[in-house]
Amino acid sequence: MNKTASFYLLTDCHYVSKTCWEDGEPITRRERGDQIVLKLSPEILDSFIDKIIADKETDTVLFLGDNVNSGDMNSHYEFRERLQKLADAGKKVYVTVATHDYCSPNGEDECFQKGAVRYTATGTEPIPFMLRSGLNEFYNDFGPKQALSIDPESGSYVVKIGDNLRLVAIIDNGNGRSHCGLFEEGIKWLSAQIDEAKAAGDYVLLAVHHPVIPPWEVYRHMADFEVYGGYRQLSELMCEKNVRAVFTGHTHVQNIREFTGRNGNRFYDIATISLVNAAGKMRKVIVDDGGKCTVESIGLDSINGVDTCGKSVFDYLYSINFTGLLESALPYVDSDYDKFLEMTEGFLPTDKLKKHKGLVRFAVNKIQKLKLSTLARFGKTKKMLSKEQYAESKNKKAFDGVLVVLSHIFRGNAPYTPETAENIVFGGVAKRLDRIVAKFRIEALQKVIPPGSSLYEMLQDFLYNNRTGDDDFIEFDLK
Ligand SMILES: [Fe+2]
Ligand SMILES: [Fe+2]
Repeated sequence: MNKTASFYLLTDCHYVSKTCWEDGEPITRRERGDQIVLKLSPEILDSFIDKIIADKETDTVLFLGDNVNSGDMNSHYEFRERLQKLADAGKKVYVTVATHDYCSPNGEDECFQKGAVRYTATGTEPIPFMLRSGLNEFYNDFGPKQALSIDPESGSYVVKIGDNLRLVAIIDNGNGRSHCGLFEEGIKWLSAQIDEAKAAGDYVLLAVHHPVIPPWEVYRHMADFEVYGGYRQLSELMCEKNVRAVFTGHTHVQNIREFTGRNGNRFYDIATISLVNAAGKMRKVIVDDGGKCTVESIGLDSINGVDTCGKSVFDYLYSINFTGLLESALPYVDSDYDKFLEMTEGFLPTDKLKKHKGLVRFAVNKIQKLKLSTLARFGKTKKMLSKEQYAESKNKKAFDGVLVVLSHIFRGNAPYTPETAENIVFGGVAKRLDRIVAKFRIEALQKVIPPGSSLYEMLQDFLYNNRTGDDDFIEFDLK
C-alpha cells in the first residue's frame, strides 16, 4: 500500500515566553502547580519541531490547543514564529485553540484566566493578553486560510491533508467550565462536512481539544463539564457516520479508548499527553490508500541546549511531576522538614504541613514502611498470591507500587496487569474499601464512584492498560 497522508499531532504545548518570567519562587510555584514544564517549554517545543522538520516524509502538523500557557501575547508571538518556521520548512500547519490561549478579563465566558502576568522574582505584574475574539485572525494562516469549509459559529474548519483524507479541526465553543463542544448549528455543520467528505470518497478524522471519551470513568464522573459538552451527541454522530477516530488533548493524559455506539459502530478517542509533561510525546499518524491508520508516539532523546547530566529526558524532568516531586521530597520529612516544605511549596498545602509536623512525620514513616504483604492480609488476598509472590511481597514496600501507579497516570501503560501481585493486593484493598463504603455509607467516597461501578473497577484503569492494550500505538481501519 502507498501512503496517502501523514501528520504530526502536538497538543497542550503550554508555551511560556522567557520574557514572561524571572527565576524565583512565583514561576517555580506556578510550574509545580501546573504539573508541566513551563520554564523549558520553548526548548522542548523547538526540539520537537526539529524532529518534525527532519522527517521529510511527513508534510502536515496539527496543534490541538492550549498552545500557550496563559494567553499572553509574548508567548503567542513566539509560538506563531515556531509555526512559521515549520511552514518555511515546507510543512502545512494547522492550529486549534483552547481555554489557555486567551483571557476573559470580564468573565465573558467564564474563562478561568482573567488576565496574563509576568512572573518577577517576588511576585507578578500584568502583561498584554489575547482575547478570544482575536484568535481567529491571529492564527488565520494556520488553518482557516486553507480550509475547505469553516463553521461560522465556532471557527472549526475542514482541511484536506492527503489524497483521500480530510481532517475536521473542531474548536470548542465552550470554556472548560460549563460546556465544551459545538452547539446545535455547529453539530449540523460537522454532520454535513462528514457527509460531504464521504461523498467525495475521502476518509475523515476529527480533532478536538477536550476529550470525547474520558480517559477513565472516574474522570467523567468528577468533571462531566470538562468532557466535550456534546460528547454523547458527538459520540453517537461518529458512530452513525462511521468516523473511526477523534484526536483529543486537554487531560494531559496519554490514552487510547474505544467507544461502541448504539448501532454497534466503534471509534477511538486518541488522547495525547501534554508536550511539556516530563513524558511529553507527539503522535505521528499515517494513513495509507487502503484506509489503514497507524498512530505512533514519539518523545525526546534530548532537549535543545539543555544538559540533562547523563539522564534521560524523562528522568531529568521527572521531578516536575507530583510523583517525582514526592519521591525527591519525602526523604527530607525526617532529616530536614524545612527543606521538605520548601520542595513541596505550591504543590502541597504548606500551612497544614507546618501545623501538623508530628502527624505528617508519623504518617509518612508508617506509609513508607508498609509492606505489600500487610496489605495482602488487609485485603484478604494472601491466598490469591502464589507462594513466590507472597514471599516477595514481604520485601516489597507497598508505597513503591503506589508511586509506580501514580507515575503512569499521565504517560499511560501502567505495568500492573491482573496476574501481578500488586494488582491482586491493591485490588483486594479496593474491594475491602468498597464493602466499608457500602456498609457505613461513606458519602464522600460514594460521590466519586460512578453508578454501577466500584473502587475496585475504577482502580483497574490505573493499574494497567485495560483499554486497547497500548496507549502509545494503535492501528485500525478507517473504512
Ligand atoms: Fe492543557
Ligand atoms: Fe485544556
